Amino acid sequence: MDMKLLFDDVTAFETPMLAVFAVDLANGKDDGPRPALLSASLSINSAAQALLQSGEFKAALGEVALLHAPAGLKAERLLLVGLGKLKDLSLDRIRKGAGTAVRAAKPRSVRHLAIAFPDLSALAADQPSDLSPLLTARFLVEGAEIANVDYDTYRSDRKDTSLDSLALIAPQSDAATTSDTQRGFDEGLIVSAAQNFARSLVNEPGNVLTPAVLGARAKAMCDEAGLKCEVYSSEKLQELQMNAFWAVAKGSAEPPALIVMTYEPSAAAGSVTTAPAPNAPVLGLVGKGITFDTGGISIKSADGMEKMKYDMAGAAAMIGAMHAIAQLKPAVKVIAVICSAENMPDGRAFKPGDVVTAMSGTTIEIVNTDAEGRLVLADGLHYAKTLGSTHLIDAATLTGACVVALGTLNAGLFSNDEAACAKFESALATSGEKFWRLPCTDDYRDQIKSEIADIMNTGKNRYGGASNAAIFLKEFAGDTPWVHLDIAGTAWNEEKKPWLAYGPSGIAVRSIVEWVRGYSN
Ligand code: BES
Ligand code: ZN
Ligand code: ZN
Repeated sequence: MDMKLLFDDVTAFETPMLAVFAVDLANGKDDGPRPALLSASLSINSAAQALLQSGEFKAALGEVALLHAPAGLKAERLLLVGLGKLKDLSLDRIRKGAGTAVRAAKPRSVRHLAIAFPDLSALAADQPSDLSPLLTARFLVEGAEIANVDYDTYRSDRKDTSLDSLALIAPQSDAATTSDTQRGFDEGLIVSAAQNFARSLVNEPGNVLTPAVLGARAKAMCDEAGLKCEVYSSEKLQELQMNAFWAVAKGSAEPPALIVMTYEPSAAAGSVTTAPAPNAPVLGLVGKGITFDTGGISIKSADGMEKMKYDMAGAAAMIGAMHAIAQLKPAVKVIAVICSAENMPDGRAFKPGDVVTAMSGTTIEIVNTDAEGRLVLADGLHYAKTLGSTHLIDAATLTGACVVALGTLNAGLFSNDEAACAKFESALATSGEKFWRLPCTDDYRDQIKSEIADIMNTGKNRYGGASNAAIFLKEFAGDTPWVHLDIAGTAWNEEKKPWLAYGPSGIAVRSIVEWVRGYSN
């Protein structure tokens, strides 16, 4: 989609469809819906007046109403897009509103859309204060780009309904506001393209996206983006003694892939003028890349197993994040380590009762081969440290228990370090993603004590499974500040929304990118 940012008079803009946001001014239960436009334009308000007064359109979040040939405007259609109650107005709702506008245009065969920036100046009521021009522009772009994709590429009856162009129309303003708006727009384009790239990887079926293919796709992205990328396989796992990762991989006919992508800030990139200080942070991004998880010998039930193609969403998030990092050029070194394998039952597969020695030297008793994600990450985290990482972050569709605990709105957040965790939590204001912190304090360690080996790969009982998995990973992060993201419940959007298609969500890309930028100086 060709996306443009214009500082222009919206009423004079020629377009097949102009979208304008609306909120409900109603206060309290007895106050009926009172829709009002987030536009100060008299022409737009008078074109919509009859509809707003009819009571048909309530400006609920995700609600749309369409007017043809609106008087006084150059647009052929005026689309009103509800954002819900004014008191609930937020950047998140603005992003959803942009997405709703795009997804309203798509089935109506409209290929060119314009969206007017929300303008709250006409409203007399109290207004939210956090709607900066930079973030408003960013959230509009992200909402629109994410909404423009439908994951129907494997359907023969597919009709590509994607928009060809979208113009975001911002009010004319002073130089500082204009440049902030432009920056938010530019960043939004980079980050949403990275998120859509991650989503496209997650959408691929397991027979197409094997570990080797994931490696090839990462390599192609890195070549294009100017990042260093190495893709290794079984021999390298053996050479590095990544026996935990190898235990998972060896039951599959598909060879594993260990993908290492490196971003080096450089003076040439314009963001750094001197060589990095010797004690400068090096960020290690580690992703779970199980391209299909059958559960292995501890096989999963057939019901819903097809979803386990998205067990590489953590890897996809890291690959997507690296795509954005290559373009945003933060002044901090970033190394991404992706551990990709297929978890299969086979004559050569690892078994419950097996004991493996991880790359770190820790011995692990395998109790359940379906707890494979923590095994590949154990070696990935350790390897990222040996490559020089001073701070670690991992993303993984790690536990069903996290889905039970948090549902599908919030992803799980765990950490062994308050400063690294605080940086992540402050990144959420810009990313707009939802993570909820869960514990992995040392008292959870008893859960993974084994009689046979140093630790075992499941908890002693079935309660608190997300924290048991996190305490297992913490063993391998050691003293290195580490953040763990359990995205099992949020990586796949099961229920389509007015602003989002069914399928891969691309969760975590945006937050990881902002966390990385938080270390840039
Ligand atoms: N890939 C799954 C976790 C998962 C569940 C992802 C639901 C997405 C949606 C993971 O490998 C797994 O199977 N974990 C087990 C661990 C258990 C055996 C300790 C689980 O959560 O049941
Ligand atoms: Zn599993
Ligand atoms: Zn898994």
